[in-house]
Amino acid sequence: MNMNFKEIIALAQDVIDKCGFLYSPNNLYEPIDYAMRMGGKRLRPSLLLLAADMYGAPLQDVKDVAIAVELYHNFTLLHDDLMDQSLVRRGKTTVYRKWNSNTAVLSGDAMFALSVKQLVSAHVANKDRVLEVFSRVALEVCEGQQLDMDFEQRDMVLMEEYKEMIRLKTAVLLVGALEMGAFCGNAPAEDVELLQAIGTHLGYAFQMQDDLLDVYGNFDKFGKRQGQDIVDRKKTYMLLKAAEMLPEKDGRALSDMYSSHVLSDDVRVERIMGLYDKLNLRSVVESDIDSCLVQILPQVDKLHASAEGKTALSEFITSMRHREV
Ligand code: IPE
Ligand code: IPE
Ligand code: MG
Ligand code: MG
Ligand code: MG
Repeated sequence: MNMNFKEIIALAQDVIDKCGFLYSPNNLYEPIDYAMRMGGKRLRPSLLLLAADMYGAPLQDVKDVAIAVELYHNFTLLHDDLMDQSLVRRGKTTVYRKWNSNTAVLSGDAMFALSVKQLVSAHVANKDRVLEVFSRVALEVCEGQQLDMDFEQRDMVLMEEYKEMIRLKTAVLLVGALEMGAFCGNAPAEDVELLQAIGTHLGYAFQMQDDLLDVYGNFDKFGKRQGQDIVDRKKTYMLLKAAEMLPEKDGRALSDMYSSHVLSDDVRVERIMGLYDKLNLRSVVESDIDSCLVQILPQVDKLHASAEGKTALSEFITSMRHREV
């Protein structure tokens, strides 16, 4: 009980590493095993175990819920890479490229089913609430992913629209992991509410950083293709912030170039990145992410949890500052 933040991450890693996924038919399960073993930070199971540990839940039992959450997350990635036409993830070929689109769809579906199976068989407190959170999150992520695709077709979106899209596609799963862990540990309702606010802001910062790394990440660390969001015409924090910083006319020119179907992808990526550089966008966005993360820390303090648990959560949040992976 009351592990520190590094021990929690190591536990989440170990729990996932010990899972076996190779069943028959091989063509269904091999891509699942590949996805689950190709790396990944294991942030969601870590958050879940951390929240559960904060309220003294037996982690031996909570592990099954943590596995379910990571399976679910990896399922979303199989489908996301197909939707975003991403060739690499975690430095390796994506499932739909290594196999094919049908495989990414069906193995992804199987991962979703496996995550539900894993949850249903877990022996944890408040299982009905855990299942309620999980099913709500699963639907909201689809809503966020749909908005993300809808926005590709639009020239520009409002910051509020962007925030709602990333809340749904990314933040709700981080919130859900914290909530599920808290329910397993019978956390007071007040704390569940605080964790929702903490997870939401963590999620905003996390996706803003993901958008930043799409442009400025180091491939060897980040493991994703540079400029993929520009290629896909994604409405990212980088684009919105750049447009916000520019005079109206230049902002419109940027969004025209971003949406252009005349320029080649390579030219668009080069020009957009050049403009981001000129605006010194990297450090501007880094400081926005930092302020988003810093404002969460006082909320952590308000939780009615063990002091060690709160320190672990604060350290987790602080480790997200300037993350490169
Ligand atoms: C990627 O999530 C999908 C987003 C929500 C940005 P992670 O960055 O947590 O991916 P892995 O699991 O560590 O590879
Ligand atoms: C992913 O957002 C969100 C989900 C998978 C639900 P992105 O499309 O930005 O994630 P990456 O950059 O491909 O990991
Ligand atoms: Mg993607
Ligand atoms: Mg996507
Ligand atoms: Mg991304």
